[in-house]
Amino acid sequence: MKGTIDRAALIRAAFRAREAAYAPYSHFTVGAALLAKDGRIFTGCNIESAAFSPTQCAERTALGKAVSEGAREFVAVAVAGARDNAPDDALPTAPCGVCRQMLYEFGGDELLVIMAKSEADYREMTLGALLPLGFGPQKVL
Ligand code: THU
Repeated sequence: MKGTIDRAALIRAAFRAREAAYAPYSHFTVGAALLAKDGRIFTGCNIESAAFSPTQCAERTALGKAVSEGAREFVAVAVAGARDNAPDDALPTAPCGVCRQMLYEFGGDELLVIMAKSEADYREMTLGALLPLGFGPQKVL
């Protein structure tokens, strides 16, 4: 399954979504693209707030769009983010802890997380590696 994922297309979708980022406070713009099991791609950007704490990450924007459109199972997510003028050697942006938890709710250990600096320069890890011993629905339901 993982071998058949079109990483370049997913990364492109994340960069396209990043163009809509609303990040006037941090100047750190992020785009995310979630690939659902049924083949649909849902995208999102970060949305900041003058009150700061309500800020929503790109990953959770994409997740909210997806779940509200009936998708609940995902195979991969691409994340593209950086602050303005970030140095070229900066590490790619990885999902924050809250987003890892929310992704885990619907993706579980197998979700492939693609952290991209460009279409050709990315790092990938499973969500299980990014969130070991994740607490998910199987514990509660
Ligand atoms: N942010 C994301 O959208 N996703 C991440 O994976 C890391 C952080 C956003 C939140 C905030 O708007 C800005 O990046 C700086 O933290």
